[in-house]
Amino acid sequence: MAGRVLHSVLLLAALAPAVFAQATCGGGVLCPSDTPCCSQYGQCGVGAYCLGGCDPVNSFSLDSCVPAPVCQSKTYKFDDLDRVMSNTKYLGDASKSDWVSSGTPLSYNGTVLLTMAENTVGTLLASTHYVWYGKVAARFSTSAGAGVVTAFILLGDSKDEIDFEFIGVDLETAQTNFYSLGITNYTNAVNATGLSDTRENMHDYEIDWQPDTITWSIDGNVVRTLNRDETWNATANRYMYPQTPARVQLSLWPGGLASNGQGTIDWAGGLVQWNSPYMTNGYYYATFDQVSVQCYNPPAGANVNGTKSYIFTDKSLTNSTVEITNDNTVLKSFLGTGTNMSADYASSSATASGTTKSSDVATVPGLTGAGPGSDGNRGSNSSDSSSSGDDSGSDGDSASATAAATGSASTGFVQGDGGSGSNGAAQYGGNGESVLRGSLFAVVVALVGLCIM
Ligand SMILES: *[C@@H]1O[C@H](CO)[C@@H](O)[C@H](O)[C@H]1NC(C)=O
Ligand SMILES: *[C@@H]1O[C@H](CO)[C@@H](O)[C@H](O)[C@H]1NC(C)=O
Ligand SMILES: *[C@@H]1O[C@H](CO)[C@@H](O)[C@H](O)[C@H]1NC(C)=O
Ligand SMILES: *[C@@H]1O[C@H](CO)[C@@H](O)[C@H](O)[C@H]1NC(C)=O
Ligand SMILES: *[C@@H]1O[C@H](CO)[C@@H](O)[C@H](O)[C@H]1NC(C)=O
Ligand SMILES: *[C@@H]1O[C@H](CO)[C@@H](O)[C@H](O)[C@H]1NC(C)=O
Ligand SMILES: *[C@@H]1O[C@H](CO)[C@@H](O)[C@H](O)[C@H]1NC(C)=O
Ligand SMILES: *[C@@H]1O[C@H](CO)[C@@H](O)[C@H](O)[C@H]1NC(C)=O
Repeated sequence: MAGRVLHSVLLLAALAPAVFAQATCGGGVLCPSDTPCCSQYGQCGVGAYCLGGCDPVNSFSLDSCVPAPVCQSKTYKFDDLDRVMSNTKYLGDASKSDWVSSGTPLSYNGTVLLTMAENTVGTLLASTHYVWYGKVAARFSTSAGAGVVTAFILLGDSKDEIDFEFIGVDLETAQTNFYSLGITNYTNAVNATGLSDTRENMHDYEIDWQPDTITWSIDGNVVRTLNRDETWNATANRYMYPQTPARVQLSLWPGGLASNGQGTIDWAGGLVQWNSPYMTNGYYYATFDQVSVQCYNPPAGANVNGTKSYIFTDKSLTNSTVEITNDNTVLKSFLGTGTNMSADYASSSATASGTTKSSDVATVPGLTGAGPGSDGNRGSNSSDSSSSGDDSGSDGDSASATAAATGSASTGFVQGDGGSGSNGAAQYGGNGESVLRGSLFAVVVALVGLCIM
């Protein structure tokens, strides 16, 4: 059914069954106090679970999630990857990194390539700074091929979302979409058609997000306008309008994996072919040249009590539950949480760089468990696990073009198929298919090669 999946979520279920017990969360099931943070994927942990994507509603308490760095107006050129940091290293210091990566971003000729090699779930860059209304523009060319999805979106921890998405079988169309609280409304998607080949040509895509209107533009031409007033939901007594701080996310991900739901595969144009002429050096890629963020002032009436970070003051996650504070955004280690940001490993010697150490709890969403060598390398060593994208800090130029082609990732990502209003936890089906119910946010998490067979 065409309308079944108009969405983009990518989710990684990661968890090889029975690797270790991890609490799940969502739909009103909160995380326990020892792993208080509920990830976007409905699993509980500490550390990176409490950073970007942390679900304030289903975490142990509203303050389990770490405060989010405020909007910063800036143009990101991607001349190098010095300010791109792996999600296995980033601890919340947005003054040192602009983007948090999972998967394998590569630096190429003044651009960043988001790569997707076979057996990976592609690459995601998420901004370290959030945006609470602003004009966000990206200049890029998409990937191509059946099942291959390129995305430029704004995604809140609330699962408010504003999208540009591209499926690789239609290189003349940009799909625009929005969500409020991750709730599906199948009439929200609108196509912008007639573009010149989006793989061959860079286009300028812009989202102008204001408190009462959202405007999507391509190459300076408005292709869609949404007014907040059109989104009133009398049942919920609120506007179903994106209204809470969001990260900018750039991604390339496989909608067409056999393990995804049929609706997702159909939406994405079929199964991904892993010997496609659109692949180079063993991977698909999308090329991002530049992203610019122009922040708007906090809306009139905003709860302003500082200049550094956003927090939520209430689980309703409306615009008026956002507070701007001076609260710290940086964890001391991956054991930290919003209520204990200085938590650290017992024999603390070298966490300064943010390198993770062993722990018994999950510390980075998307990685299989946590445990010994929680740097995503549980049970294996780092030498060439490639696709982990965590080789040496901000992968930088050192990432070789071949690295992405050798991934041995276990892929358990899933795509949400919406439908139920609850943000349920990911569940494994018999053949490894996972379903994230009702949660609609475009995310890609690349798995590190740590499938424990
Ligand atoms: C590198 O980028 C420049 C524009 O910045 C472009 O003119 C040139 O064709 C690119 N080279 C390659 C090999 O892609
Ligand atoms: C879905 O959203 C549209 C506005 O985009 C609105 O007109 C429509 O009523 C919504 N559908 C439902 C079922 O609320
Ligand atoms: C948008 O375009 C795609 C093909 O690229 C098509 O499958 C989809 O139905 C269109 N969606 C809408 C809402 O027109
Ligand atoms: C309107 O709100 C109700 C109650 O929260 C929710 O179940 C429903 O999905 C919402 N509809 C839309 C189109 O957002
Ligand atoms: C929140 O949204 C309401 C409309 O639902 C608006 O009247 C109010 O001014 C907004 N407040 C803030 C702080 O944005
Ligand atoms: C403002 O922040 C300070 C700490 O920075 C806190 O003590 C105070 O309670 C806050 N005020 C409000 C109204 O939240
Ligand atoms: C914070 O975490 C440390 C472990 O790193 C622990 O010893 C300490 O008791 C915790 N503090 C609170 C207030 O929970
Ligand atoms: C570590 O890597 C080396 C060389 O790649 C390999 O021989 C060894 O088996 C690996 N050890 C583990 C525990 O994976």
